[in-house]
Amino acid sequence: MSAGTPQRDARQPPPPPSGAAVVGPGAGSSEGAAVGVDDIVVLRNVKKSYEGQEVLRGIDLCARRKETVVIIGGSGAGKTTLLRMIVALDRPTSGQILVEGEDIAKLPERELNRIRKKFGMVYQYAALLDSISVLENVAFPLVEHTKLSKKEITERVMDKLEILGLDPKVVAPKFPSELSGGMRKRVGLARALMLEPPILVYDEPTSGLDPLTSRLVDDLIEEMRERFNVTSIVISHDIASCFRIAHQALLVIQGRVEAVGPPDSLINGESEIAREFIRNSGVDVRSLSRVTPNDP
Ligand SMILES: Nc1ncnc2c1ncn2[C@@H]1O[C@H](COP(=O)(O)OP(=O)(O)OP(=O)(O)O)[C@@H](O)[C@H]1O
Ligand SMILES: [Mg+2]
Repeated sequence: MSAGTPQRDARQPPPPPSGAAVVGPGAGSSEGAAVGVDDIVVLRNVKKSYEGQEVLRGIDLCARRKETVVIIGGSGAGKTTLLRMIVALDRPTSGQILVEGEDIAKLPERELNRIRKKFGMVYQYAALLDSISVLENVAFPLVEHTKLSKKEITERVMDKLEILGLDPKVVAPKFPSELSGGMRKRVGLARALMLEPPILVYDEPTSGLDPLTSRLVDDLIEEMRERFNVTSIVISHDIASCFRIAHQALLVIQGRVEAVGPPDSLINGESEIAREFIRNSGVDVRSLSRVTPNDP
């Protein structure tokens, strides 16, 4: 937890920070409380049904600028569904999703590409295309979404690889299969950061990695947050990782928020289900604390 970052129950509609401007179409309307400038992603009573089956049953969430929110929960709880709504790949059946104050749930399709560019996606196993080089993989968002020249794109890719601690001249011409798991993660992150999005979204970033590499990925997530001032939304099965990186942990059970707050509040809070969930993970969470970029 970085000093001075306020903690708040994310189920409550956020109050505007004192002195901060109030933005968003919901401001002052009957649709809900005002959204503060630092409340980057706000969900209000988000529901989603597929063919009459309710998968999300009224989710509230508030991700603040430069915070990391980790969404945990059992298989089939609705985590991926929730993430797809947040990044505008799917629409909720009802409820509001405010991204930087704008309700994206009701936006027409042609507006959604603009919203999607606000999110950098880091997929499980980095999801790099194996048949093209690292350079081409990382360049992809710029080729898709900008009119930059080939030379400019190459320069930007090389810069990003370097920022992520990779030797650009060595790594750029390689194919993803020639890299270690940790390097692939860095390349995936470089790609997600190419459009300099305010929000990074990670789907199971540590799954399939050994404990040491998982720790390195946690450090990397924290470093990205500090360096680029991004808000991170992470889906994870990894309770140890959750305790290391989350400002807020959101436990989703059967499409509902069972508990939310700093990870410690899941073991010390009111929800017996949350305590049991953590206990059943088998992780000794008492030995864990948040990583900071300056950790040795
Ligand atoms: N497009 C869809 N059509 C119908 N049902 C769906 C669809 N997408 C998800 N579901 C259902 O929604 C429920 C939640 O799925 P979701 O993938 O969000 O769970 P999850 O929490 O991500 O699980 P896991 O941890 O296993 O990845 C499941 O019962 C799933 O079958
Ligand atoms: Mg999932």
